[in-house]
Amino acid sequence: MKAYKLSENIYWVGAIDWNLRNFHGYLTQKGSTYNAYLIIDEKITLIDTVKSYLTDEMLRRISSIIDPAKIDIIIANHVEMDHSGALPALLNICPKAKVYSSIAGVQGLKEHYKKDWDFVPVKTGDSLSLGKKTINFIETKMVHWPDNMVSYLVEDQILFSNDSFGQHIASSERTDEDYPIDITMQEAKKYYANIVLSFGAQVQKAMQSLAGLKFKMIAPSHGIIWKKHIKEILKSYSKWMVNETKEKAIIVYDTMWGSTEKIAKSLVDFFEKNNVSVKMFNIQETHMSDIMTELIDTKYICIGSATLNNNMLPTIAGFLTYMKGLAPKNRIGLAFGSFGWGGQSVGQIENVLKELEFTILPQIRLKFIPDQKDIDINLEKIQNELNNF
Ligand code: FEO
Repeated sequence: MKAYKLSENIYWVGAIDWNLRNFHGYLTQKGSTYNAYLIIDEKITLIDTVKSYLTDEMLRRISSIIDPAKIDIIIANHVEMDHSGALPALLNICPKAKVYSSIAGVQGLKEHYKKDWDFVPVKTGDSLSLGKKTINFIETKMVHWPDNMVSYLVEDQILFSNDSFGQHIASSERTDEDYPIDITMQEAKKYYANIVLSFGAQVQKAMQSLAGLKFKMIAPSHGIIWKKHIKEILKSYSKWMVNETKEKAIIVYDTMWGSTEKIAKSLVDFFEKNNVSVKMFNIQETHMSDIMTELIDTKYICIGSATLNNNMLPTIAGFLTYMKGLAPKNRIGLAFGSFGWGGQSVGQIENVLKELEFTILPQIRLKFIPDQKDIDINLEKIQNELNNF
């Protein structure tokens, strides 16, 4: 296992998680990487580490360049264990290394690992000379944990951005010069939708902190390193962080006997007639993390469920809980569903959409197998409402 040379005296020494398919509930069809970076200077420096079970892989890659015992400085941009998991093993090898992290990072690492390592807390504006090269630290609080920070290598104009700009992609290719950009962008979108979406205000603040810096590379802690398409990923983040949406609709539903699905299909026709791009998802068939990827730039969010035991179906309840946590903003919501008796699901869905402060369109709540004419009467009400927007 080798290191990958990014630039003179700068190497990728991370690990590839080829078989990862579930990242705390996020479906990672393409696996992932945990990117650690080695800088050879008067002070040998490692930026971030990997998950604990991939420690050996990281050590072997470091060893292809230098004895890991010679590491002087470890920069921990983020406490979460996919980046800090190898710290205990590494610090057994280089016990005198100093560990640089944000104030919350130092606190988090102490609480998590219960070790008295040689910590150095840093904040925005602090610099560290490695010899010929200089690292500037920039805190990026709540993108997406309180401890997050990024490290900027001044002379080489490389931003080590940790989770920001990452994507879950396992690949032997390291940069966007060698990996298809459409897949990289799609996975960056999925990453933002499922990890970062609720922190739009904090992303805006972080982006302001980065304004004015020049980037030859943006090196995240997951997936492909940005070299050729830096402008594109920055532009995408600037849209996602303000919840910019397009004339798009998604219809997410579960059905018991096909009646709620009948309403869902009528909604597809409705949006098509209105020249709104539309996608329909039966939650049984599409993973919620993929639906979130679609949702990120979608204006109209329609959620439907039959009623089971006086509640919405558990699949839809699960999706709504997930979506609520990610807190999309500035959307238009619509609840729908059929029922045999009870019929509480539609009101329950609508309540969640209201909690998210969506603009609410008239609900569609119909008993048994809905007649098309009854669906059409409801769609007319929705059309009238839309015409007034
Ligand atoms: Fe990739 Fe927040 O950890």
